[in-house]
Amino acid sequence: MNIENQEDFIEKVSKLNDGKNMKYSVYTMGCQLNENDSEKISGMMEKMKYSNTTKIEEADCIIFNTCCVRENAEDKLFGKLGEVKKYKELKGTIIAICGCMMQEKHIVEKIKKSYPFVDIIFGTHTIHKLPEDLYTALCSNKNVIDILDIDGEVIEGLPIKRNDRAKASVTIMNGCNNFCTYCIVPYVRGRERSRSPENIINEIEELARAGYKEITLLGQNVNSYKGNGSLGITKFSELLRAVNKINGIEKIRFISPHPKDFTDDVIDAIRDCDKVCKMIHLPLQSGSSEVLKKMNRKYTKEQYLNLVHKMKSRIPNLTLSTDIIVGFPEETEEDFKDTLDVVDKVNFEQVFMFIYSRRVGTPADKMEKQIPDEVKHERFNRLKSLVESKIVENNKKYIGTIQDIIVEGRSKTNNNMLTGRTDSNKVINFEGDDSLIGKAIKIKIISEHMWYLKGEVV
Ligand code: 5AD
Ligand code: SF4
Repeated sequence: MNIENQEDFIEKVSKLNDGKNMKYSVYTMGCQLNENDSEKISGMMEKMKYSNTTKIEEADCIIFNTCCVRENAEDKLFGKLGEVKKYKELKGTIIAICGCMMQEKHIVEKIKKSYPFVDIIFGTHTIHKLPEDLYTALCSNKNVIDILDIDGEVIEGLPIKRNDRAKASVTIMNGCNNFCTYCIVPYVRGRERSRSPENIINEIEELARAGYKEITLLGQNVNSYKGNGSLGITKFSELLRAVNKINGIEKIRFISPHPKDFTDDVIDAIRDCDKVCKMIHLPLQSGSSEVLKKMNRKYTKEQYLNLVHKMKSRIPNLTLSTDIIVGFPEETEEDFKDTLDVVDKVNFEQVFMFIYSRRVGTPADKMEKQIPDEVKHERFNRLKSLVESKIVENNKKYIGTIQDIIVEGRSKTNNNMLTGRTDSNKVINFEGDDSLIGKAIKIKIISEHMWYLKGEVV
């Protein structure tokens, strides 16, 4: 499916906006898939003659692209809505909300009741209908609610405005069939749907022609990607090999794979493809086989460790990162110690740590023995201490090494520095001028800090 029927609405909104210097702001929460959706939202807005502003008070249309994986995202959204209400009252700013949270009925009800000034609510399967929804809102003064409960089709051909000049994300599949018991994603993103290999390769070739050097392939479960056979590609390993052949692309990353789908052909493709970073994000979630079973992860502690062993022995210099949840219902002290044990054994480069958050409608939310907040926090802090001590130790190996990086731009935390990342995804900050942005260069690491490395151009 493509967006031809939206072209009319793009045209109509453009006409309304002609000569008016209209501005939009997109506020994105959550993962890189959402970031990528927001780039498409920006693409559509710009086609409708809105220009981007980061000053929310200047915007004529504000779009919140929401996440619902953990509870704090909800608090954030409601806080922001409270903030923008005054702009609606002052100058009639259009307020739109989309993304995963809008697929949750109780949230939509709450917005309708407590934030009636919101003009447009659209879901994860109706992003491409933004032009139509916006046109309706602009012309009718009515609230528009455009949500599909069934899985949407793969939408191709959306305009896109990329956030970066050197690196780009390409969604290869959407949705999830795994139903981990803590996770809301399968309910809000629907079942797995893969894009056709031909469309993916075309998009990446176009990015390469536009000067992009680094590509991140995105999906909730990239390694259960199923190609329709176009270009002879039916599975993830074949897609990796095809992307590796594209001239101009120098680095390939992908997130997130699931350990249960990590077949040997994927390991071999990572080993063989020179552009694929020798770095795998391999979500562990828990180190306890008991908890993993209750989470419906479909692997045990031993199977995870064996997989890591196999990967490390087949792929020289492989690094790993992971996601861990602490305080899953019924998690005992012994279970938690198993998590610490895996962290100790694997030497992850990065660990994304989360406190278990109850999600309405998921099986884990209904489990009786929820873990008290104090215990969750205490375990989280113990895990954090272990992770940090391992990272300090691990970072030392970088000192004096030469890293091939792509210069991404100015550091967000220090405008005097440029920034890029090692293949293992560690941030490197270094001095240099803007002409280096977008270039592939070599950096010598001179010092290490907990969350970044400092280097100099060689
Ligand atoms: N509570 C806490 N963390 C969660 N994640 C997913 N669902 C939850 C939840 N209910 C984490 C998992 C996943 C990452 C994207 O978010 O670790 O890998
Ligand atoms: Fe959520 Fe599990 Fe699917 Fe990942 S694999 S999106 S954690 S249900």
